[in-house]
Amino acid sequence: MELWHIRGGRRLEGSCVVQGSKNASLPILAASILCPLRCELLNVPQLRDVDAALRILRHLGCRAEQHGNSVYIDSTGLSCCSIPHELMEEMRSSVIFMGALIARCGEARLSLPGGCQLGRRPIDLHLAALRQLGANIEENNGEIHCRPSTLRGAEIALPFPSVGATENAILAACAAAGETRILGAAREPEIVALQDCLRSMGAEVGGAGSDTIRISGFRRRKSVSCRMIPDRIAAGTFACAAAAAGGDVLLRGVDPKHFSTVLYFLNQAGCDIISDTRSVRIRSDGRLRGVGELETAPYPGFPTDAQPVLMATLLRAAGRTEITETIFENRYRQVPELRRLGADITVDGNKAVICGVASLRGAALTATDLRGGAAMVVAGLTAEGETVICDDGHITRGYEQFDRRLRALGADIVREY
Ligand code: EPZ
Repeated sequence: MELWHIRGGRRLEGSCVVQGSKNASLPILAASILCPLRCELLNVPQLRDVDAALRILRHLGCRAEQHGNSVYIDSTGLSCCSIPHELMEEMRSSVIFMGALIARCGEARLSLPGGCQLGRRPIDLHLAALRQLGANIEENNGEIHCRPSTLRGAEIALPFPSVGATENAILAACAAAGETRILGAAREPEIVALQDCLRSMGAEVGGAGSDTIRISGFRRRKSVSCRMIPDRIAAGTFACAAAAAGGDVLLRGVDPKHFSTVLYFLNQAGCDIISDTRSVRIRSDGRLRGVGELETAPYPGFPTDAQPVLMATLLRAAGRTEITETIFENRYRQVPELRRLGADITVDGNKAVICGVASLRGAALTATDLRGGAAMVVAGLTAEGETVICDDGHITRGYEQFDRRLRALGADIVREY
């Protein structure tokens, strides 16, 4: 159990290099087994979820090492196509190994994945897409067994642009005979990153970033090197921290297009935002205003992962903000904790209404999930006195050196572990 001690009221000043993307790294780590070759992955953040993926790779018989932000994988010795429950339950992204294993071995045995408790998180769309490619999958009491199957290209129409189902379908389709078209695909930047990495491995895949992705085969290369894209949710979190605490922060190594909706709402709230292709400067006097209505949506809409953090940013903003969460059924778990700081938030179904209060006061909180935990950190930066967040590892699943990066900007934050 870790304790995060935050004394609020300090402005944030300076520059911050944002980490590589967690949600791009995880599917790319799974993709590294697609064919027997050596992979070098650069700008991979050092995170609990990345460690979990590396442990899965080693269990499968691959060599997998992380040195700083570089990961080296050699999947030549892959010798097994099953993943035990204790590795599967560590994170949601373990399910992406299903498509990768089916592509590499034609079969897979695993169990339902773990991950943040954000409500029901079924994998029906993943299974349906893989079955359309010819995978012979049985599901029994949370155990998933894909018997040896021959994959053939297909037209897969996703009823919802699920990020994970799109990734699994792309990976399995790389090994299918003939062309696959995924219609209604997720359009997130992480899907484009996966496509770019697969192309450098030799896959013939195109269309990522639009709602139709085409995959038509694989011509193996001997080795591959890919650089992870910047983490748009971490970038949005630092932008929100600067907006809430007040200050002048330059975020470097980011792609502003990837979190333009977050920047839009921070601008609406009263922050000055100046961006170029690789950096964003946020200036805020800490006196924000409510932004009216906002709704989460699949990319390019406002990201559900940034919702808890933007909520925390607007707790002291003058006026109201009304949030509608459309992606996950239980993504307001941070709300009871934020109320302990004095926040005025009402939740009714998937709507949350925030009425800005004049001040927040520090309190003892418990991190509920990754982004909820980050939201509590952001709120703590603006509260009077000390906020202590008790966390059993949620925050470090997704944020690399969060405390150190915030301290470098002037925050009074200490992580005790
Ligand atoms: C990815 O999760 C991200 N995780 C999540 O980030 C992110 O919140 C989410 O996409 C939405 O943007 C990773 O990339 C590792 P989905 P994923 O499949 O793939 C329903 C974070 O904080 N659904 O697009 O699991 C599902 O229940 C995390 O970094 C089905 O009904 O998201 C949810 O309501 C958390 N059946 C919605 O779709 C399925 O088979 C979106 O899920 C699959 C999904």
